[in-house]
Amino acid sequence: MNTCTPLLALALLGLASVLPPTDATIVAGALLPHGDIALDPARDPALNSTQRRQATELHAAALQAGKFLQDASPELIFLATPHGVADLERHAFFLNPTAAGCLDPLPALPGGSGSATGATAATAAGAGAEGSAEAQLSPAQQQLGHPGRRRCTDVSVAVGTSVMLLKFLRDRTFQQTTGLSGFGPPGEAAAPFPLGWDELRGSARFLLLSFPSRRYNESVQMAPEVLDMGMALWDALEALPQRVAVLVSGDLAHTHDPAGPYGFSKDAAPFDAAVGRWADSLRADELLGEAARRQHGAKSCGFLGMVMLHGMLHRGMAAALDGAAAALGSSARGAEGQLSTSVARAGTGAPGQQAAGQRSLQEQQWPPADAGGGVPGTWRGRLLALQHPTYYGMAVATFERLGLQAVAVQ
Ligand SMILES: *[C@@H]1O[C@H](CO)[C@@H](O)[C@H](O)[C@H]1NC(C)=O
Ligand SMILES: *[C@@H]1O[C@H](CO)[C@@H](O)[C@H](O)[C@H]1NC(C)=O
Repeated sequence: MNTCTPLLALALLGLASVLPPTDATIVAGALLPHGDIALDPARDPALNSTQRRQATELHAAALQAGKFLQDASPELIFLATPHGVADLERHAFFLNPTAAGCLDPLPALPGGSGSATGATAATAAGAGAEGSAEAQLSPAQQQLGHPGRRRCTDVSVAVGTSVMLLKFLRDRTFQQTTGLSGFGPPGEAAAPFPLGWDELRGSARFLLLSFPSRRYNESVQMAPEVLDMGMALWDALEALPQRVAVLVSGDLAHTHDPAGPYGFSKDAAPFDAAVGRWADSLRADELLGEAARRQHGAKSCGFLGMVMLHGMLHRGMAAALDGAAAALGSSARGAEGQLSTSVARAGTGAPGQQAAGQRSLQEQQWPPADAGGGVPGTWRGRLLALQHPTYYGMAVATFERLGLQAVAVQ
């Protein structure tokens, strides 16, 4: 006899009103390809019909993710990138008041839309944050302008908040963290900090974190550290007075095609599939188990960004379940029983129990995807597209915070 179910449902319905007040909050997350043919499926004339259909699907999904972020109205966007100016050892925040990338024109392609080294589809999200009129245009239309014209875009960097995050992380024992300014003192340099390409835009201000270049050879070894850092960053970002969105720019396995620059690996397809299952379920074993085991062969530049996001979301999940269980108190024992099981499972991976980097990923015991059971404040992932129209795989996914409205207005 399952008498818990109605009680649990009732208790959950009541949760929104008993959750502790939340000033501002992490409102949304997304995983996006850097861009390239996801940004403009027409830009590579060598694609066959299948590949073009796949690229078009990614393109439409990136627009949808941009709309999703726009609807969350973030004031700050935290972006973790594997392709920034990088320190060899340390994670680096960019500390110029502006950052900018440029998109070089290509000679006009047949059909007219010239493009270059690929503006990231993160741009689609930024454009989404900028305004609905612009979001109506395809990213290609927004970005590429006219063939022959070089386009550069400045975005605003929240320097003070970045310095605060940097200090926060260092206080939390993440000594391998630094800040970088270019061409002038932090917060004062007039010139924009260089970005890889024209990948960001929008009226939100950015917190830009660049992974160190040791990630090229050591991303799997770095995963425990980055996971813990994600959990710490959750605490810091969640405590900010602004609404924050978290954006991971990254592509999947780069070893799909024997003729591609990284050759073929049998790990490529299973890696991408595991990432797809992770994005839909937030199951730790998919990302920290299966994908991590395949990462060496897959050579994904997005792996660490996803690990960081995973740390953030699960820290948030554990906090929400803790709060929910506490709020229920003794008045709903049946529900409490179920919730506290979830909380116990969620708590297993709580930060601070072990020093960063000391436990293996396989030892991580994270709650399964349904551990939150729809509790407000927990997260739901949604995979919108997963394809490899070229030698590398790409995924578009959104991450929604459940019951945000109820949580946010308390
Ligand atoms: C398109 O190219 C891919 C990769 O070479 C190949 O697997 C696929 O069969 C091709 N599809 C068509 C319709 O030619
Ligand atoms: C990664 O390893 C390769 C091969 O051992 C080496 O040539 C390269 O310098 C290393 N890169 C970094 C950033 O450590």
